[in-house]
Amino acid sequence: MRTHTLGEINLTLADPVTQPVRWIGQEELLGQILACWTRVTKSDLPLTPRVVGKPGMGKTTLAQAAAQKLGKPTFIYQCTTDTRPEDLLVTPVLSGAGKISYHASPLVSAMIEGGVAILDEANRMPEKSWASLAPLLDHRRYAESIVAGVRIAAHEDFRCCVTMNDDASTYEVPEYMVSRIQPLIFVDFPDRDEERQVLQYNVDFAPADLLDLTANFLQEAHRHNLDYSTRDGINIMRYALKLNSARGTAIDAAFHQAVKQVLGDDAENFEERAAGLFFPKDVKDLSEFMTSDEDLDDEEDDDDDAEDDDAEDEGKPGDGGKPPPKGKRG
Ligand SMILES: Nc1ncnc2c1ncn2[C@@H]1O[C@H](COP(=O)(O)OP(=O)(O)OP(=O)(O)O)[C@@H](O)[C@H]1O
Ligand SMILES: [Mg+2]
Repeated sequence: MRTHTLGEINLTLADPVTQPVRWIGQEELLGQILACWTRVTKSDLPLTPRVVGKPGMGKTTLAQAAAQKLGKPTFIYQCTTDTRPEDLLVTPVLSGAGKISYHASPLVSAMIEGGVAILDEANRMPEKSWASLAPLLDHRRYAESIVAGVRIAAHEDFRCCVTMNDDASTYEVPEYMVSRIQPLIFVDFPDRDEERQVLQYNVDFAPADLLDLTANFLQEAHRHNLDYSTRDGINIMRYALKLNSARGTAIDAAFHQAVKQVLGDDAENFEERAAGLFFPKDVKDLSEFMTSDEDLDDEEDDDDDAEDDDAEDEGKPGDGGKPPPKGKRG
């Protein structure tokens, strides 16, 4: 257990991630992150880039690979809609004999040890949490922990990178923060050769015919502007190979079955999906996937009708029901 003393406070530090990653293709993106972290002169400050792209296209892997290239310990903080400022900075924990111990987040641990902090999926965070990062991500390079009552200055080697999904699932990032997480590094779809290499690296026991089928499938989906991701491709291949191994299903048939089960029945009907006709055939009533004004009102109600809400919600996407399949991008 590593600790660090700040005034009266003894902070328990988080552990860096140690699993090595490899970034394949699109070398330019890796170079751009490393450029952001460079200091041109002693008076120059590093930038905190925001890595943006569709889900599952390699944003976290890219940020991690850049940190690894820099040779600094890497700390990842997974942001959520519930992330509070203290989660991002220092959390008080009740330890034995009614004592409070203070745990530094991965971000603060990186600040103290001169590592790289990756704030993953940062656009899920509410504004209050962003606000706690404002002084850290500008020229001041410090954070104030209200719960521990300390100001924490970032080590001069501290570097930060923020990743965000390019979708509408989250809070808007406040403008004053957008100006502190510059520049934008956009992770777009890789070309066919690179995507095949990524698939091969991640599923290194896959035969060539399955790699070709999956790479062609993903490229066709990208051409139709559908948001099927590299991660979807990896899942399809891994499931197809399990069907092949455990059930003797031929690779070709296993691939098509895996596509259906990972992305939905009509996933290979690119034209239909791209036109937005992407609901499963067995769904007759689209209202199942829609939120009504009534639902919104219910959410604001007190808990007394929680049971009713549960019953009404049954089978809705996100509640364990069949999710609507992926469709057109943005
Ligand atoms: N260029 C690449 N090189 C190596 N692996 C990649 C590359 N692109 C994607 N992958 C692989 O694809 C998968 C998804 O990558 P990753 O988790 O980094 O995506 P993400 O954009 O952060 O996804 P999410 O939005 O869900 O957080 C991982 O298994 C990763 O190893
Ligand atoms: Mg990610």
